Amino acid sequence: MPHLPEQGRGWNDLAADLDRRRDNDADWRRGRTALFVFNAGESVRRVGEQAYLAYMAENALGLRAFPSLAAMEADIIAIAHELTSAPHGAGGYFTTGGTDSITMAVKACRDWAVGNGQNPVGAEILAPSTAHPAFNKAAHLMNLKVIRVPVGDDYTANPVAMEAAISDRTIMLVGSAPCFPYGLVDPIPEIASLAAANGLWCHVDACVGGYFLPFAEQIGVELPAWDFRVPGVSSISADLHKYGYAPKGASTVLYRSQELAAFQPFSFDVWPNGVMATPTLHGTRPGGAIAGAWAVLNHLGYEGFRQCVRDVLAARATIETGAAKLGFQPVGHPKLGLVALTNPAKDVMAIADAMAAKGWVSSRTATPPGIHLMLSPAHTVAAHDYLADLADATQNAPASRGATGVGSYT
Ligand SMILES: Cc1ncc(COP(=O)(O)O)c(C=O)c1O
Repeated sequence: MPHLPEQGRGWNDLAADLDRRRDNDADWRRGRTALFVFNAGESVRRVGEQAYLAYMAENALGLRAFPSLAAMEADIIAIAHELTSAPHGAGGYFTTGGTDSITMAVKACRDWAVGNGQNPVGAEILAPSTAHPAFNKAAHLMNLKVIRVPVGDDYTANPVAMEAAISDRTIMLVGSAPCFPYGLVDPIPEIASLAAANGLWCHVDACVGGYFLPFAEQIGVELPAWDFRVPGVSSISADLHKYGYAPKGASTVLYRSQELAAFQPFSFDVWPNGVMATPTLHGTRPGGAIAGAWAVLNHLGYEGFRQCVRDVLAARATIETGAAKLGFQPVGHPKLGLVALTNPAKDVMAIADAMAAKGWVSSRTATPPGIHLMLSPAHTVAAHDYLADLADATQNAPASRGATGVGSYT
C-alpha cells in the first residue's frame, strides 16, 4: 500500500525512482506519440522547462505581488492579438488550456446574452458535430445546451444546416480552425456572418490552429479566413501548449473588444477578505506556465515558428504519401498537422490496434474509421519508422474483423 513515508527521501533517490516509473510510458522523445505531446525538439523543451522552473513558486492569482507575471501575460496577449489580426482595443486572457479557454468564452457569451435579455437556462450553442467536447463540458457546467449540427460532405461545418438550427434560444455559433477529428478548418466567414446577421456571438476554436495557422499563411499555405479579419468573429481560443510548444497549462482566449472580454472574469466581495476577482475558473494560477509560454514564444520567434510549421507539414506529407501506397487516404483535405487516415479496403481499427501494440500512441476516428495523427516537428524523423510499422500492420491486418469502435481517447 502506498503511504506517506515517516522519513523523507533525498532527491537523487527520488529522481531515480521517477525515471524508473517512466519505463512503461509512451516514448514521446522518439516521436511515438501523435497525441498529447507537442515536440519541437530539445532546445525548445529546455527553454520552457527552465522558464517554468524559474517561476514555479510565483502565483498569477496575485498579480499585484508579481508585476513581472502581469507584464509577461500582457506580452503574450499582445502577441496573440498580433497573430490573430485583432483590432485595436481587443481583449484577452491567459488560461490553463483549451477547455479553460472555451469554458470562459462560453461564460462570457452567456453573460453577454443575459445582458441582452436572454434567459440563460437552456440557452443554446450551435456547434458542428466535429467541435471539441469542451463545449459540452462548459454547457453542462452552466445549464446551457449544445446542439451539434452534422458536418457537410467535405467534413467541415455546414452553415446552411447551422442556419436552419438557429432558434430564439441560440446564443453562440461555433467554428473550429481546425477541428480536432479531421484537422479541417470550418468555413468561418459563413458562420461568422450568420452570427452577425442574427445578433449572435461567434466563437472560433483555434486551440489547435491558433499558433500554427498564422505561420502557415506566411509560408504560403492557402487557408480559409479564420481570425479577427473575419467580421463577426467575437472570440478565439488558441492554445500555447499545443502548436505554441509551451509547457502544459498554457492557452489564450481572445476577444474582439475589451467590452466583450469584460464578461469573462468573476468577481466576489461578500466575505471577510475583500474583492476576489479572477479571470478563469482557477484561483491560484501557476506562474511557471506564463513564464514558460512567454519564454518559448520569444525563443522561437516568427522564423522559429515558420520552421516548425515547415517540419510538421513535411512530416504529414511523408506520412500521407507513404500511407497512400498502403491504400490509406486522408479524410477531407487537411492542410495542417492533423490528419485522419482511412482505408476502405481494410479493417482500420485492427491496424490501429497493431500500431498501438508496436508502441505508437494516436487517436482514432469513428466516422469514417481512421487512424488519427496530430504531428509535431519531431515526426519528421519518426515518420519513416511509422511508415515501416504501418506497412507491416496493414499487410498482416485482416480485411475485416468487425468494427469494435474507437475506444477511449483518454
Ligand atoms: C480543437 C480543440 N479544442 C479544444 C481542445 C481542448 O484543449 P485542452 O486539452 O488543452 O483542454 C482540443 C484538445 O485537443 C482541441 O483539439
